[in-house]
Amino acid sequence: MNIQGKTALVTGANRGLGLAYAQALLAAGAAKVYAGARDPSSVKLAGVIPVKLDVTSDSDVAAAAAQCGDVEILINNAGISAGGVQLLDGNAYQAIDTQIDTNVLGILRTSRAFAPVLRANGGGTLVNMLSVLSWLSLPNSPTYSMSKAMAWALTNGLRNELRAQGTLVVAVHAGLIETDMASRFDGPKSKPEDIAQHVIEGLLRGDEEILADDISRQVKAGFGVSPSPYLVAQNR
Ligand SMILES: NC(=O)c1ccc[n+]([C@@H]2O[C@H](COP(=O)([O-])OP(=O)(O)OC[C@H]3O[C@@H](n4cnc5c(N)ncnc54)[C@H](OP(=O)(O)O)[C@@H]3O)[C@@H](O)[C@H]2O)c1
Repeated sequence: MNIQGKTALVTGANRGLGLAYAQALLAAGAAKVYAGARDPSSVKLAGVIPVKLDVTSDSDVAAAAAQCGDVEILINNAGISAGGVQLLDGNAYQAIDTQIDTNVLGILRTSRAFAPVLRANGGGTLVNMLSVLSWLSLPNSPTYSMSKAMAWALTNGLRNELRAQGTLVVAVHAGLIETDMASRFDGPKSKPEDIAQHVIEGLLRGDEEILADDISRQVKAGFGVSPSPYLVAQNR
């Protein structure tokens, strides 16, 4: 697909990876980039159009779809991590609910609202920011992994349902990225700009799945190996 001259919306575009996506889209020649943010005044990037968009709010999502009727590329980037909550902890259900509301239902809300917009604009592209933790569960973030595994399944379902209207549905997987979300984790981290650039290159190729760093490529390759990476004991 071509990005030159296109109109895009990025959710959670005020900071972190979402900001890098907005910058990369502009650099790739997008004509218009809407920067979705819970607080539009937190969008500081020049050249984008701030849009109030909390992905857990049905009214925000409906208003954004009405305001941004020219969107051809939707990047579902907004996400949260509840961090160290364990599945057997007393607050597990609350952490799971919150993450599913943002990381899964947030994608579903925007996808449902923008599917007609994308269709009206020729089919377009829907990009969902997933994780290597869609496939693996680590001791420090099992509830986040649950939400990202659901988001992976959601992405596969959306791809089936949106194929008929010509929408390219893209799954992006990555390991740790240097953003606020990953600040409490040690280990090698990719720069958000590098992940965003990989995604732009994948979109230009028309890829349906983008493995944006080494760890996501290694883990995916490990699916064909025994024991698969998700069966191996993880220590962090
Ligand atoms: N960092 C990593 O290691 C890593 C690795 C793989 C995948 N990811 C995924 O990459 C995406 C971006 O994460 P990040 O690393 O950039 O995290 P981040 O630095 O914590 O930024 C999260 C972004 O999502 C926004 N957000 C959170 N809840 C929202 C909601 N209800 N409605 C709208 N926006 C909301 C935040 O807005 P506010 O400023 O209002 O909070 C912020 O813009 C997420 O989907 C994350 O799961 C991250």
